[in-house]
Amino acid sequence: MDYEAALDASLQRLHDEGRYRTFIDIERRKGHYPQAVWRRPDGTERDITVWCGNDYLGMGQHPEVLAAMHEALDATGAGSGGTRNISGTTVYHKRLEAELADLHGKEAALVFSSAYIANDATLSTLRTIFPGLIIYSDALNHASMIEGVRRGGGAKRIFRHNDVAHLRELLEADDPAAPKLIAFESIYSMDGDFGPIREICDLAQEFGALTYIDEVHAVGMYGPRGAGVAERDGQMHRIDIINATLAKAYGVFGGYIAASARMVDAIRSYAPGFDLHHLAAARRRGRCRCLRPHPQDRAAPARRPATPCPDPEDAAQGAGPADHRPWQPHRARPCGQPGPLQDAVGHAAGTVWNLRPADQFPDRSARHRTPALHALAGA
Ligand SMILES: Cc1ncc(COP(=O)(O)O)c(C=O)c1O
Repeated sequence: MDYEAALDASLQRLHDEGRYRTFIDIERRKGHYPQAVWRRPDGTERDITVWCGNDYLGMGQHPEVLAAMHEALDATGAGSGGTRNISGTTVYHKRLEAELADLHGKEAALVFSSAYIANDATLSTLRTIFPGLIIYSDALNHASMIEGVRRGGGAKRIFRHNDVAHLRELLEADDPAAPKLIAFESIYSMDGDFGPIREICDLAQEFGALTYIDEVHAVGMYGPRGAGVAERDGQMHRIDIINATLAKAYGVFGGYIAASARMVDAIRSYAPGFDLHHLAAARRRGRCRCLRPHPQDRAAPARRPATPCPDPEDAAQGAGPADHRPWQPHRARPCGQPGPLQDAVGHAAGTVWNLRPADQFPDRSARHRTPALHALAGA
């Protein structure tokens, strides 16, 4: 085979279809979020505003987050020591997982190197744990969920986006005794709309199905403690497995699931690909903690969350879960002053480019390309 020609042909196909990937060389400047410098291919530089970032609150630059990472680096060095299966599980992993479990009011959590891996590994592993499992998946679920559902093999049903009537039809058509799982998102990354969490939980209860939600774009942004839309809507206790990321509102990278201790233990034991570097765990815990509202911001009781989530810090300070106010991103001690980006995400909590009118996006592939364009448009 002429391998070079095959490479050329495959790349040309992408050019012809307008799907060839181009990266923009961006250098962020600590303390100037969301400003950055764009290094052009010819070596020249230009100041830009990154309107399409997922570090919604600038937490990737927060002093407490950076300090937590420096502390771990100074205390333990840079190496992870191996995979978590051998010598790589550290106190940082354990503390972060306890923090995340507590955030979501679950018994346990399991960290992965990204939410993509967490979705893929968990959904594909559930097939092994529950033989004959039928997965009902929203048509606009993220690629990582699609991949997990696909890779696990077995029966799957795709319901029309946010269409609970269609979901009901599909559930009714299957064997009532078959194990079932409904997989959906709280905020859809492509369209920025919300999933009907309560209605899906109602159906799951009626048909004896497990629920799996992706809260990647919602954690740190919604809910009295920033645990997501399910927390905001009082539905978090009805979700069996919550997936989220530490790479967006929490500012760096890494993903996780939160669930019952038994569920997490089974996934931990069967899933390929769960792992996370200890320094990342350390800094993420720093970020997670400082994204919670300040105790002084909780002084005036405003709303009782439907699922009380005891917070050790609250207990120490004499504040109960009923003291939580609705979550307000600008109170979350972001880096510097709240700016237009934080303002925008505070209202939309989707990727900022999703705020543009739908008619500017003739098709989904065009939408995929807009983040890069917006980075330049902000210049
Ligand atoms: C809905 C959704 N789920 C999962 C992911 C994967 O998150 P991560 O960046 O942590 O891999 C993304 C990434 O953008 C996403 O939009």
